[in-house]
Amino acid sequence: MNGPCDPTRGGRSPFAPLPDVRWNEPAPQPAREGVTALPVELNHTIVHASDQERSAAFLTEILGLPAPTRFGPFLVVQTANGVSLDVAADPDPIHRQHYAFLVSEAEFDEIFGRIRARGLDYWADPSHRRPGEINHNDGGRGLYWSDPDGHNLEIITRPYGSG
Ligand SMILES: [Fe+2]
Repeated sequence: MNGPCDPTRGGRSPFAPLPDVRWNEPAPQPAREGVTALPVELNHTIVHASDQERSAAFLTEILGLPAPTRFGPFLVVQTANGVSLDVAADPDPIHRQHYAFLVSEAEFDEIFGRIRARGLDYWADPSHRRPGEINHNDGGRGLYWSDPDGHNLEIITRPYGSG
């Protein structure tokens, strides 16, 4: 293992040991029709950032989420379904990842408005070949834009394959 979570990286790692915390039991989720109840929920993932404060603020401001909270070395961006994006400062080159957010139609309007108000580029497709457009996949709306480190962000109003 040679990633940023590798404890052998010693002083180069931005990840200090996490405090001893007792995680809450996940709330039981009702099974959706046609979907077998599964035993695992995604709880958090790490977003690597060259400027941690800038990236965390970018996410919460554009998405209309509460301000990030500090947890150990992370700035935690909390989403509505219990998954957090834990933004971490990374001095190494940032490898672009993809993060997609399911939003309501009203939230889409608000987020799209903030993207346009900032003059950010956006695309209808993940490869960024359709600039200035949104898509209507699955009977909803979707678009892609980039965070300050080039992470490919996406909002959709319908989950993939739901149309
Ligand atoms: Fe996606």
